[in-house]
Amino acid sequence: MPALVLLGAQWGDEGKGKATDLLGGSVDYVVRYQGGNNAGHTVVVGDQKYALHLLPSGILSPGCTPVIGNGVVVDPSVLLSELSGLNERGVDTSKLLISGNAHIITPYNVTVDKVTERFLGKRKIGTTGRGIGPTYADKINRVGIRVQDLYDESILTQKVEAALDVKNQMLTKLYNRRAIAVDQVVEELLGYADKLAPYVADTVLVLNEALEQDKVVLFEGGQGTLLDIDHGTYPFVTSSNPTAGGACTGAGVGPTKISRVIGILKAYTTRVGAGPFPTELFDEDGEALRRIGGERGVTTGRDRRCGWFDAVIARYATRVNGLTDFFLTKLDVLTGWEQIPVCVAYEIDGKRVEELPYSQTDFHHAKPVYEMLPGWSEDISKAKTFSDLPKNAQAYVKALEEMSGAPISAIGVGPGRDETIEINSFL
Ligand code: GDP
Ligand code: IMO
Ligand code: MG
Repeated sequence: MPALVLLGAQWGDEGKGKATDLLGGSVDYVVRYQGGNNAGHTVVVGDQKYALHLLPSGILSPGCTPVIGNGVVVDPSVLLSELSGLNERGVDTSKLLISGNAHIITPYNVTVDKVTERFLGKRKIGTTGRGIGPTYADKINRVGIRVQDLYDESILTQKVEAALDVKNQMLTKLYNRRAIAVDQVVEELLGYADKLAPYVADTVLVLNEALEQDKVVLFEGGQGTLLDIDHGTYPFVTSSNPTAGGACTGAGVGPTKISRVIGILKAYTTRVGAGPFPTELFDEDGEALRRIGGERGVTTGRDRRCGWFDAVIARYATRVNGLTDFFLTKLDVLTGWEQIPVCVAYEIDGKRVEELPYSQTDFHHAKPVYEMLPGWSEDISKAKTFSDLPKNAQAYVKALEEMSGAPISAIGVGPGRDETIEINSFL
């Protein structure tokens, strides 16, 4: 059964967009199953660069049907502007399917995201401010608005009223903000209904039928394992499940259908926003990784925090996702270091710890234990096979594979589609 999950093994921005796009030509469907336009995926095709936020990266492959699953949160204005931006560049987006069960990021969810972050002050999460957390909160609180509600004005009005009842009390009495008018929200949302109508579908049925017909389906995660609401560095996480199980609930496909789970793993580590990060660097090495790796957020433009590779995290990602393979990205960025430190374990309160501690207090105290691996200075961006890599680069990859617990089946040596070394085929 050719159903693959492709997800971030660290804190996001591992290069999922590039990896998805690479496979896009050989798959029939690419499905986003969680998150929303907090994602920022850069895809480079030839001399063209695309920044995608909500749309699955498969949208750039003509034969592939892109799907926004029920587990995604959709900001209609962002979606429509992303679609028209692609159309202007000649990309056909007419095949897109959107689940009628996906929840809508309303303007008040965006407002609540921003005011709560401001209210938290120094304790803030550093969210993308796109309304993600408040929209998932409404979903769980059963006061969310779904795509299908756009097609029943009376139900939509009742639901917006219910959602704003409490929020307006909070906005006016606690946050000193103006109340949001129900009519205005309803009018704005109804304005999207006709524009979205051609895309709305029963995506659960479509995907299960496709799998029965042996079509190839790729589930593309947003964010990453350590940003998962259950398995990440809570509370410094996003509000959905980027881990492999999220693909089942977020697309309506049973776990027995998933044949392969690919973890996208950067050859070093980055993180955006607040929260613990044991291998974070505050010196010129961190600055060099940021500069050479172009580590600046696609969504928010924030500088990414940078650090050395952390094998404890990679092992954890293998475990919680049941990874079958890794796709190691950005190996080229490490060219030029004489020695490359790799975190193999943590020291916590004087004790060596090999696995990610379940206690966040311990994780906050974790100090990296480094092993030094020899570097290389040759340009590797033109390497096409594993044996084209310098010996030390090969040894670095092999060491990471050994420590991380799953085979490295592809290696990224540049941002372009063809700047990839394929070791084992994914299909
Ligand atoms: P995503 O959120 O996981 O899709 O990752 P982002 O797109 O936010 O960040 C990854 C960045 O690295 C993008 O700018 C990609 O174009 C770039 N990239 C991906 N793979 C490679 C690689 O192997 N080498 C280099 N140098 N850049 C890469
Ligand atoms: P991609 O798909 C990196 C981070 C935010 C913040 C936390 C919560 O490009 O890998 P949210 O707005 O989701 O409530 O913010 O999660 N975050 C990401 N970090 N890459 C992403 O997506 C992210 N999406 C959210 O910075 O720390
Ligand atoms: Mg990104």
